[in-house]
Amino acid sequence: MRFKLKDGLLLGTATAATQIEGGDENNNWARFAKEGRVDDGTSPTRACDHYNRWREDIDIMADIGMQIYRFGIEWSRIEPEQYRFDESALAHYREEIEYMKSKGIRPMLTLHHFSNPLWFEDMGGWENKRSAEIFLAFCDKVIDYMGDIVDDYITINEPNVYCLNGLFYGIWPPEKKSLSSFVKAFSNMAAAHVMAYQLIHKKRLKMGKKREETLVGFANHLRIFEPENKKNIFHRFSARFMEYMFQTAITEAMHTGKCRFPVLRRKGVRRGKYYDFIGINYYSRSTVSGIADGAKADAYHNDLGWEIYHEGLITLANRLSQKYGREYPVFVTENGTCDNTDAFRARFIYDQLSLISETDNRIERYYHWSFTDNFEWREGEAARFGIVHLDYETQKRTVKESGKLYADIIKNQGVTDEAYTKYVEPSKYKK
Ligand code: BGC
Repeated sequence: MRFKLKDGLLLGTATAATQIEGGDENNNWARFAKEGRVDDGTSPTRACDHYNRWREDIDIMADIGMQIYRFGIEWSRIEPEQYRFDESALAHYREEIEYMKSKGIRPMLTLHHFSNPLWFEDMGGWENKRSAEIFLAFCDKVIDYMGDIVDDYITINEPNVYCLNGLFYGIWPPEKKSLSSFVKAFSNMAAAHVMAYQLIHKKRLKMGKKREETLVGFANHLRIFEPENKKNIFHRFSARFMEYMFQTAITEAMHTGKCRFPVLRRKGVRRGKYYDFIGINYYSRSTVSGIADGAKADAYHNDLGWEIYHEGLITLANRLSQKYGREYPVFVTENGTCDNTDAFRARFIYDQLSLISETDNRIERYYHWSFTDNFEWREGEAARFGIVHLDYETQKRTVKESGKLYADIIKNQGVTDEAYTKYVEPSKYKK
């Protein structure tokens, strides 16, 4: 055995509705694509056609042996117009959840993952003063409909990436470049999490579930910020500043309700504990020499130029456990890499899981991003993150070598010498 998987660590994958489902024209990303704003000219209306092929996808997951699956539901399908809920969309998701459970896969449901219904977007989206309340009406309906069969929830995925890209850098819809828009949306999303956390618990208790049966959290994109030159005071300052603006303030607000600029306190947000686990989406380290993102030059990079730096996940897990309590489990709600030819993904998985398994942090779940290749937002279909290859033309799914390694790891609860020789040895990083 090359390494034995950490005792009790559950493995699965994560996806988001807009990135895999296809077909829905009623969300801001479909419109953005229609306006020709996606780099490779593709649209989420194609994606993986998962809305029709979900059974086949769950079957592949079950064959791989996955124990857990984090997925999203498309708000604009469920609530195509404000306060009009589509029963058939709700029934669709319920059927899919029941199916995955029948295959032994534990669902984790994400309520918001970057995309908005057009009616919501056109009311100002997350900048709207009432956005948290509006989102809550949707959550309420979802819990009514499937709260009895889902125990694990992510309220909101990566408010930091959503707000930064959409409202500050202006490279995602709604393409704004405004600090005040960024602050408004950031604050409303933090409030929405706090309110949804309470709502889900309240409703599940009413359904007769014990409090500890419900696990609610959120998934922020967390990075390591390193000054490019540690002796340079400006680099050091920039690294701390970027870290604070991107992740520290929002993570604190969503965990505890304690709001500090750039997160403003919204009505109804009180100090408390708004998490049942510590969720981390981790991809890379930023090497900083000014108020912008950068990657270390002399290092391995993925196909989007992101540094491959596995230790960062362990550092963050330890840091967050220390701050928010070791009594809470850590869930890696996303981790993965863009590797368009599956040249180094097997090694990436090997390195990350062996590191998790060696350390004594409380990581209990690992959701690899992602299951199949899928619609990677602004990069469209050009960036591949899946352990299952997708031919977009034919919609054929083929398990990659990295996916076979993942299956082997789950089956043997570690990496055997044979698996190492077969999958990891030929897999090589690029500079
Ligand atoms: C997001 C995913 C995205 C992934 C890879 C995360 O920031 O939650 O939607 O596909 O990173 O870029």
